[in-house]
This record gives sequence, C-alpha cells and structure tokens, in this order.
Amino acid sequence: MSLSQTSISALFDRAIAVAKKGWGNTHPNPMVGALIVENGEVISEGFHSASGQAHAEVEAFKALGRTPSTDASIVISLEPCSTHGKTPPCTNAILNSGIQSVYVAGLDPNPKHAGNGIEILREKGLDVELADSETQQRAARLNFIFNHNMQTGRPLIALKLAESANGKLADESGRPSRVTESEARADMMKWRRLFPSICVGSGTVLSDNPELTARLPDATFCPTRLVVDSDLSTFDPKVSDRTLYTDEFAGRTRVLTTPIGLKKNARFSRAKQLGISLIETEVCPRGRVPALCFPSILSELGLNGIYCEGGAKLAESMMEEGLADYLFRYRSPKEFLGPRALASPIAKSIRLRDALELELGSDHLTHGFL
Ligand SMILES: NC(=O)c1ccc[n+]([C@@H]2O[C@H](COP(=O)([O-])OP(=O)(O)OC[C@H]3O[C@@H](n4cnc5c(N)ncnc54)[C@H](OP(=O)(O)O)[C@@H]3O)[C@@H](O)[C@H]2O)c1
Repeated sequence: MSLSQTSISALFDRAIAVAKKGWGNTHPNPMVGALIVENGEVISEGFHSASGQAHAEVEAFKALGRTPSTDASIVISLEPCSTHGKTPPCTNAILNSGIQSVYVAGLDPNPKHAGNGIEILREKGLDVELADSETQQRAARLNFIFNHNMQTGRPLIALKLAESANGKLADESGRPSRVTESEARADMMKWRRLFPSICVGSGTVLSDNPELTARLPDATFCPTRLVVDSDLSTFDPKVSDRTLYTDEFAGRTRVLTTPIGLKKNARFSRAKQLGISLIETEVCPRGRVPALCFPSILSELGLNGIYCEGGAKLAESMMEEGLADYLFRYRSPKEFLGPRALASPIAKSIRLRDALELELGSDHLTHGFL
C-alpha cells in the first residue's frame, strides 16, 4: 500500500528517531532505524545497535515475529546495504520478507554503494521511494561522522569551543572558567557520548583537570581520551595525579608524546606507574607533538571521529594545519574582560557550511562544517 505524503514524512522522522537509539554505539557503522508499516500503522521497529550486530531492517523483521502482510511497507532511515559485510545484505532480508514497498530517507554516502541498494530492489520489481532532499539532508546529518569517513577516507576531527560574548575561552588563561550554563553543558555531554574519542592539550589537563566523560542522566560513558602532551608535563611530580589518569576509566586514556617527553625520567616513570598508555610521535619544529599526526593515529586506533575540546593552543594548531572538519561553537552572553582573558583561536566571522543553530538556555550553539 502506498503511504500518503503526510504520513511518510512523519514516518521518516520516526525512522530517524529510532536510528538515534544507536547513538554513539554503532561506530564505524552508521545509525539506522527501520519501521514496518501495515495499514498505515507502525507494527514493528528496529535499529542498528552496534557494529557486528544485526542491521535495523533485520531487527524490525525479528521484532515483528511473522511474515509482513503483502501490502506492508518498510521505512528506513538509510538505504539498505547490498553487500556482505559482518552480516548479510539487508536487500536480501527485504526481498525474502515479501514486502513490495520501500521508503528510504537517505542514500549511503559510500561512492561504491550509493544507490545500489535501491537499484537492486527496483530491479526485482519493488516500489522504492527516496525521500525529498530536505529529509535526505536530515538523515545524512545524523551520520555526519560516518559520512565524512566514507567520503574522505579520514576520521572526522571536530573542535568544540565555548566562548564568552567577547570571544574569550577563559577569564584567565591557565585557569578553569565557567563559560556556559547547564543546558549547554548537557548538550556537550550528548556529543561526548556520540564521538568515539575526545582530546585536549596538556594545558587544559593542567588547568582544568577535566574528566572528559559523558555524564548523562542514566549513565556515564567514557570515550577514548587522548591527551597531547609533548614533554609529559601532566605527569610532573609537582602536579597532583590528574583525574583522567586515575579514575575508573583510566584504561581509556592515552597520551601522545614526543621522544623529548619519553626522556623525562621522573614523568615517564609516573605515567608507567599509573599504567597510562603512551603513544610516541615525531616532534614538530616547535618541539611539540605534530597536529598532523592525528588522522593516522586515530585510524591506527580504529577511531573514526574525535571531539577535540581545546584548549586554545591545540585548537589553533588543528586550524593552522587544516585538520578541523567540524566546529561546535557555544556562545555565552558573559563577557570576560580581564587582562589575562584567553582569546579564542577562531575568527568571529568564520562561516560554517550547513550550520545548525540551537538556543540552550542563555547560551547559543552554532555547529557545522569548516
Ligand atoms: N572555553 C573552552 O572551550 C575551553 C576548552 C578547553 C580549555 N579551555 C581553557 O583553556 C586554557 C588552556 O589553554 P591552552 O591553550 O593552554 O591549552 P591546550 O590547548 O589544552 O594545551 C596546550 C598545550 O598542549 C601541548 N601541545 C602539544 N602538541 C601541541 C600542538 N601540536 N599544538 C598545540 N598544543 C600542543 C603544548 O604543551 P606541551 O608542548 O608542553 O605539550 C601546549 O602548551 C585553560 O584556561 C582552560 O580552562 C577553554
């Protein structure tokens, strides 16, 4: 049965919402949601929960527990896969179900696959409808990390900066500042939960002693935490043990350092005592970990995206090297006017591609592609 345009638009929204149940758990795969509809009613739904687990379409058929009626439709947030990966192709599952009508919200961005799933089903005589361009864009945005990986072959590097109204990151450089309020902070937790990894420079570890966990109402999640510390200053005996080296998630912290850091005996020994994994990089001309090593290190660690929480110097290096793909820019109405206030490395006038805007209490978020 063909669905009306009003109901299909609501069903696409619902399929995208169902896909979000896999938020942060599906890497390196995309989030996908599927609905089976009979007589205009959703009778089952499924989502892709984790890499290696069944795909959304298969979950939806499993949840139904019977053969769909001949006039049933399936609504999917992403075109069905058409090749054997860790699981068989979803085009087969749809063909085997007997369903004749398929609604697809977005195309697979992998140039090798784009449109194939739809083509295969059409060739077998199924009626396949692709969403309007606005819905396709929304479906694509949900999987911006996966899409970037598919289109560029590189991990997505996102910068997050929280700025005062006059463009400062802290009211005093080297000290923690409360830039944004609770709604914006809760929003940041959501993104920490999405990305498989998070990073900061040694300056932020020394000044803020951050946890870098996603503290959500129901649970705390810890992405892989990377600290960029050229000379292991965060392990100096004069510095108290930082939380991300000693908390319950310490096994997920890795420190990128240079041969200079590895020669600092006391610091190196402390890192070893704490059991923190060190990754040796080359040294850039400024005596630091080269920002350019990020994409290859992330790929070696199997991480397809990183949420880089600053601070100013690391963000500046990422921008200078053209490594930043995406920006989360939170703006507070506060002003930091002190003489030692830390300036944001991002120009106020910078334009983001496909920018999204969100009011979060008294704060404002703009996020989009650089
Ligand atoms: N508002 C915000 O969004 C936000 C976010 C984070 C932090 N902050 C604030 O920012 C301040 C800290 O800023 P920061 O700029 O000192 O911290 P940072 O960017 O976190 O750390 C900078 C340090 O990282 C190390 N590093 C290693 N390789 C680097 C590379 N390629 N490029 C840049 N840095 C590299 C350098 O120290 P070594 O050479 O010794 O390794 C450098 O001094 C604090 O006041 C903090 O509260 C604000």
